[in-house]
Amino acid sequence: MVSLLENPLRVGLQQQGMPEPQIIIIFGASGDLTWRKLVPSLYKLRKERRIPPETTIVGVARREWTHEYFREQMRRGMEEAHGGVHPEELWQDFAQGLFYCSGNTDKPEDYQKLKKFLSELDEKRGTRGNRMFYLSLSPNLFAEAIKQLGNAKMLDDPYKHRLVIEKPFGRDLASAKSLNVVVQKHCKENQVYRIDHYLGKDTVQNLLVFRFANAIFEPLWNRRFVDHVQITVAETVGVEDRAGYYESSGALRDMLQNHLMQLYCMTAMEAPNAMDAESIRTEKVKVLQATRLADVNNLDLSAIRGQYSAGWMKGKQVPGYREEPGVNPNSTTPTFVAMKFVIDNWRWQGVPFYLRTGKRMPKKVSEISIHFREVPSRIFQSAAQQVNANVLAMRIQPNEGISLRFEVKMPGADFRTRSVDMDFSYGSFGIEATSDAYDRLFLDCMMGDQTLFTRGDEVEAAWQVVTPALSVWDASSNPIVVPQYEAGTWEPVEAELLINRDGRRWRRL
Ligand code: BG6
Repeated sequence: MVSLLENPLRVGLQQQGMPEPQIIIIFGASGDLTWRKLVPSLYKLRKERRIPPETTIVGVARREWTHEYFREQMRRGMEEAHGGVHPEELWQDFAQGLFYCSGNTDKPEDYQKLKKFLSELDEKRGTRGNRMFYLSLSPNLFAEAIKQLGNAKMLDDPYKHRLVIEKPFGRDLASAKSLNVVVQKHCKENQVYRIDHYLGKDTVQNLLVFRFANAIFEPLWNRRFVDHVQITVAETVGVEDRAGYYESSGALRDMLQNHLMQLYCMTAMEAPNAMDAESIRTEKVKVLQATRLADVNNLDLSAIRGQYSAGWMKGKQVPGYREEPGVNPNSTTPTFVAMKFVIDNWRWQGVPFYLRTGKRMPKKVSEISIHFREVPSRIFQSAAQQVNANVLAMRIQPNEGISLRFEVKMPGADFRTRSVDMDFSYGSFGIEATSDAYDRLFLDCMMGDQTLFTRGDEVEAAWQVVTPALSVWDASSNPIVVPQYEAGTWEPVEAELLINRDGRRWRRL
């Protein structure tokens, strides 16, 4: 019988069951992501009995840590970020499967040492040669790590060896292409899992169900009925202690090119032929290939960046981006981006998609809103009868849910109208929708399901769309030209204009 692991492309989103025992090797294991998200997600899966007890984790980083010290660090992380390790006995057992192996990304001998250690662990833990190499490294080290893994013959078996690559995949179209060349030289595409944690969120996966499991919305989902679409991912946090990474990344590379464009694809794509990885990813690529910035010759009409200046958040004064530790005082790195996309296809011709994301916004909120056209005839004309166009809002986080705004008559003798919301909230299930997502993505990868991971051509198509803005912004180092917005306020005025010019407004969330 062919196991799930041996047949990675067959399983789709419906998959169930338990993956085979395997070793998860985390490169960059001394970084925050490992203790904040990765190890806690694996512990959660273990607690829920979704992964076998033989599952083994090996942290790899430059520092000379012992296995014991690594275990302590992970425990500390669980206490700090997840309120502890309940139940204690299970953690003790889980921690016996945590190991550490120091190594440098560019030293072939360190890969040989790791390879030998992994074989020993196979014997000891019963992991049968199954490996997941998880690159949680600084993005400029991805190519080197893949080359070294390939040269050490650690990626040779397309069914037993998987490669997970964190975002951002490349820093522009050219670098994404060259990284794909390295990946393709050492792996088959069905071994590769380019991760975007937004795809692990229930509310993001729900976009597929909402659109394709309901017959009533699909007939409206096009240029005849939709006026425009807005996608917002707003965060209250600033750059935190990540200046080293963020300075060379910024909001476009860190958020828009990946997380927002995944939301965009799920909203704009055509129905896939089936709910499997290839069908879904093919539709996403198609819509990306039909997408372009609204006006590549005049960026003011299609792409706006911004940077937060000092301001107030929840009654506390916070510094501007350029005053944050580790940030260049003349930095041009954007902490906010807004873009207007148009799609040259039958369904969406003439319907703009406005995307915006920023740090230090007044509220943490991610939402997709479909703004329908106004009614064709103005029979309600008095001031008391202001009718607004219908809006369908899909709340990705927090307060996960969906609402539909429509007009009703107010009670009473007057003929007054008012907008009301019909609302579905995930809270009503009594089970929280996952917004943290790594557990789901780990499980999918262990089971060989690539549906929620980005394919090589998809990531390139996404870079292609934003390249005209990136190349202009990267070419200028003049800090004066980057619009500012006060921390704790919404977008810079230039981004207001981007949409106001079209006679529309950003939704106030
Ligand atoms: C990460 C970005 O990918 O996503 C961070 O690097 C950002 O800058 C984070 O804060 C947001 O994720 P979430 O799930 O909290 O919306």
